[in-house]
Amino acid sequence: MNHAPSERNDDTTSTALAGGTSRFVRACLRQPVDRTPVWLLRQAGRYMPEYMAVRKHHTLLEICRTPEIASEVTITAAERLGVDAAIIFADLLLPFTPMGVDFEFLAGEGPVVHSPVRTLEQVQALRTDRVEELQYVAQAIEKVSKHFSSPRPDGDQLGIIGFCGAPFTLASYMIEGGSSRNYIESKRMMYGDGAAWSLLTEKLVDVLVAYAAQQVEAGADVIQVFDSWAGALGVTDYREYCLQPTTELVRRIQALGVPVIYFGVDTASLLSTMRETGADVIGLDWRVPLAEGWKAIGEGCAVQGNLDPIALFAPEDVLQTRVREVLDAAAGRPGHIFNLGHGIVPGTPVENVIKTVEWVKELSAR
Ligand code: CP3
Repeated sequence: MNHAPSERNDDTTSTALAGGTSRFVRACLRQPVDRTPVWLLRQAGRYMPEYMAVRKHHTLLEICRTPEIASEVTITAAERLGVDAAIIFADLLLPFTPMGVDFEFLAGEGPVVHSPVRTLEQVQALRTDRVEELQYVAQAIEKVSKHFSSPRPDGDQLGIIGFCGAPFTLASYMIEGGSSRNYIESKRMMYGDGAAWSLLTEKLVDVLVAYAAQQVEAGADVIQVFDSWAGALGVTDYREYCLQPTTELVRRIQALGVPVIYFGVDTASLLSTMRETGADVIGLDWRVPLAEGWKAIGEGCAVQGNLDPIALFAPEDVLQTRVREVLDAAAGRPGHIFNLGHGIVPGTPVENVIKTVEWVKELSAR
């Protein structure tokens, strides 16, 4: 299948085949489903004792780079929670290594890039010819795909999600050298060194498309593009510096034959522009009321979200009300995937996560 998104949306024959028996994939394509599909950002993470047990013996990167362990962590989380999709256990920054950018995860600090990329010469030196080295992610997907190859008791095929970062979010880690508050160096390059910025985003897109292709080949049904820090940009800057490379990334992943979910945080003012990338699904953060966000995006696009992950700490009655509010705002329209508005944080009570998934299933059954 090699369709532009608009064609895909109008072509009911091929979408019926593409959606198949997975309610998650069907919802991505805005096809009718028996109930709202649900999965959760960071569903495999430090809040979960099963993950911490594995983490005790391995670093984050060891888990990511060992297909046996990455697949096990992915499968355990999906089964423990009873969700409709499994996101492969990996990290946004893995493609940095074959590009020649060294990084590590420091406890409590997140990712650290020791020699940030700030000049045209440094951008020119980035490698785009070693994406094969990332095959361990595809190998993990293959294992997950094999594990979930037969339908579940309710007849539904679990969806398998591959993922990569978006140009802005990945470029910002490379340029800042880690997490950032004000993105000064990234914006300095965007505004002041157009040649470096364009070449950097071009190279990232080439690497990410090849990386996504490996994941699709291995069995990913959908690719989620994380633009976690896009909310740092005003609409004008997003349009001028990020829309084109992100649109190209989305189009080239869709040309692989899978729907694309495009997610960012703090994006209320960017939603209609993010829609212009042509993504099949836009992921909403929790700050924007879902109905309002969907209206900004337009009904010709599916949405994913958007419970506040911190609502998972609330008493049961409050949490259930919040879950209901998200479902009510979506009003059962085709094309809603229930999720959080950002990842589950450490310390979240596992039983509340499990209850949330159960409530979505009960309350949305049609
Ligand atoms: O089930 C899942 O969703 C887990 C798989 C996953 C990880 N990273 C593993 C991980 C996914 C989808 C990611 C993507 C990712 N990585 C994003 C986008 C998602 C988002 O939250 O917006 C980002 C921004 C990164 C970069 C990154 N990796 C940061 C900023 C951090 C530190 C933040 C923290 O929570 O400490 C990481 C580390 C990381 N990646 C952890 C996990 C489970 C936690 C650290 C650990 O286990 O040691």
